[in-house]
Amino acid sequence: MNLHARNPIGIFDSGIGGLTVAAAIHKLLPNERIVYFGDTAHLPYGDKSAKAIRGYSQKITEFLIEKHCKMVVMACNTASSVGFRIVKQTCGSQALATNVIDPMVKYVSANYKSGKVGIIGTKGTIDSRVYPRKLKQENEELLVASAATPLLCPMIEEGFFNNNISKTIIFDYLSRNQLDEIDALVLGCTHYPLIKKEVESFYKESVEVIDSSEIVARDVQRLLGQKNLLAQKKPTSRNHFYVSDYTESFERSTRLFFKGEIHLKEANIWK
Ligand code: DGL
Repeated sequence: MNLHARNPIGIFDSGIGGLTVAAAIHKLLPNERIVYFGDTAHLPYGDKSAKAIRGYSQKITEFLIEKHCKMVVMACNTASSVGFRIVKQTCGSQALATNVIDPMVKYVSANYKSGKVGIIGTKGTIDSRVYPRKLKQENEELLVASAATPLLCPMIEEGFFNNNISKTIIFDYLSRNQLDEIDALVLGCTHYPLIKKEVESFYKESVEVIDSSEIVARDVQRLLGQKNLLAQKKPTSRNHFYVSDYTESFERSTRLFFKGEIHLKEANIWK
């Protein structure tokens, strides 16, 4: 049983994109200690089968529970769209579980009762149709349009943002017919906060561009608060960042996603 306020929050993603969520949690809840796991050996999840992603998610959750995490946050839309049930089951009564999709659905359905909302994400997230299904459950009136934007993750990881190449690719994706006349756009991938400004400028600020990192951080605060599990004092030990396959280029890229230097450690949990 890991449910003690002083225990860490476990966060995982297919790679380093989930660090945008980790950074938002760290900013909002500075007393919390974080154990992060990036499954860089299996990156990208965006085009993997649901079965494979469920297997990875289960194993990573077991690892985070062994690290005494009181909560497991799935900081990956692709994994959240197909693997939340297995993560919840694996946590059982030992740890709380949450994902990046449910808090976003709550936010959108509270703020958009009618009109049209667009979603962009990986092929895995979009093909799962999880966002339209959940949003329609909350609010039948809402029109939901989704578009897979698979080039955006590799583009961002290579550091291509705020330049002509990213501008052209973003322009092409967002100009697609299905996203016409939207009132809001959900950035349904944890890499996309890094291109939020460019997406906003495409819409000339006329469309609300919603990224999940702060919304998820506030939900983590709410869930831990409800169970009296919020850490009360600054942590005595440091945050830990693990990856399943270490390369220097991953370590370099972490600086794009998490302010402040972090050192990645390799944990091969697939042996
Ligand atoms: N972090 C993943 C997400 O939010 C995208 C990266 C990947 O395809 O693995 O969907």
